[in-house]
Amino acid sequence: MSSAKRILLIIGGGIAAYKCLELIRRLKDRGYSVRAVMTKAAHHFVTPLSVGALTNERVLTDLFDLDEEREIGHIRLARDCDLIVVAPATADLMAKMAGGHAGDLATAVLLATDKPVLIAPAMNPAMWLNPATRRNVAHLKADGFRFVGPAIGEMAERGEAGPGRLAEVPQIIDAIESAFVGGAENSGALAGRHVVVTSGPTHEPIDPIRYLANKSSGKQGFELAAAARELGARVTLITGPVSLPEPEGVAIVRVKTAAEMLEAVRSALPADIAVFAAAVADWRVSAPQMEKIKKAEGQSAPTLTLTENADILKTIAQPGPQRPSLVIGFAAETQEVVAHAKKKLKSKHADWIIANDVSPSSGVMGGENNTVHVISSNGVESWPEMSKAKVARKIMERAATELDGKRTAAE
Ligand code: CTP
Repeated sequence: MSSAKRILLIIGGGIAAYKCLELIRRLKDRGYSVRAVMTKAAHHFVTPLSVGALTNERVLTDLFDLDEEREIGHIRLARDCDLIVVAPATADLMAKMAGGHAGDLATAVLLATDKPVLIAPAMNPAMWLNPATRRNVAHLKADGFRFVGPAIGEMAERGEAGPGRLAEVPQIIDAIESAFVGGAENSGALAGRHVVVTSGPTHEPIDPIRYLANKSSGKQGFELAAAARELGARVTLITGPVSLPEPEGVAIVRVKTAAEMLEAVRSALPADIAVFAAAVADWRVSAPQMEKIKKAEGQSAPTLTLTENADILKTIAQPGPQRPSLVIGFAAETQEVVAHAKKKLKSKHADWIIANDVSPSSGVMGGENNTVHVISSNGVESWPEMSKAKVARKIMERAATELDGKRTAAE
């Protein structure tokens, strides 16, 4: 297919490298052409033979590993593609990228390219959370590199869990597709912007099979992500457990607890707009049990001791270099909706609060419609009842106008 989008896949040396085989397969199914470069370390985890069999192209590793006709130099590799995907991106590879190294074929290609680059990191959580890696990631994001993941969960090392798993293949494919849609041909009101949305409930474990949760369906958050995408933004949707169809072209990060959600939001920054539509659990069980709590005859019911969760919106909205230009919170109230929401605008340092009545009679939780009040330093605007999709579209259009205003003011 001559019009096929060409992806150059750079495979780093991590245990997750084997997932690249599935990624290549899925990309080929979708009509992409894929060529692969492997770092030396990657050879320990997956063979060039299997990668080459799937890409139908010779796999390259060495800087001086040109083909017989000396046709595929690193400059040509860097230019003869539409997108470069680095998966898995190890801490070492990202450090080299951030430092502008070019000592092997992978790093030389990355330094020479003028194409968009999508990075899918994978490493041990301690390495991901290390200040050196945090610095390198912030650096790479500021330089315009796109990221997908890492996901949060169990690691290959037994008993270790946290952020650091390679994003799942469908999530990487979504990010690849959104990189293409978000390209130069896109001219929506939010083109070139990064929007982060939190959505859904959180689940706070009591024991391995029980948890504390709430009735949030996640619909409003998913609609916000879809609306931002339609307006041309690159969107990261961070969602608690929900069963909703995934919006197209949006990078989804699935989390369970409030602590995981906060970490996922931090990892997704920087962003131009952050919308906090999640119904985050205010409390978690202080000491969740590792084994199922059993009832024993004659014993009284267990007592749950709760600890307050960090306020994600308030944490991210604090003034600082990482603060998104526009921070939008929601206020779920069952009484004195506007009065309570006004307090939240101040106490959480949000730019806007979208207040809604979630009392059972309103039918908002789980329903299709929403009636909201938009509260900002300019006052209160009450919108009539409309679908959650329409509310989302109006909020995102207004956000685009607000950001354009900020840009003009700064010029
Ligand atoms: N929020 C958050 N992290 C929390 C609690 C809330 O990010 N731990 C965000 C929500 O996503 C929402 C806003 O804060 O954008 C307000 O949430 P809401 O549940 O209405 O308010 P609370 O702060 O929980 O206050 P209360 O439950 O006392 O009304």
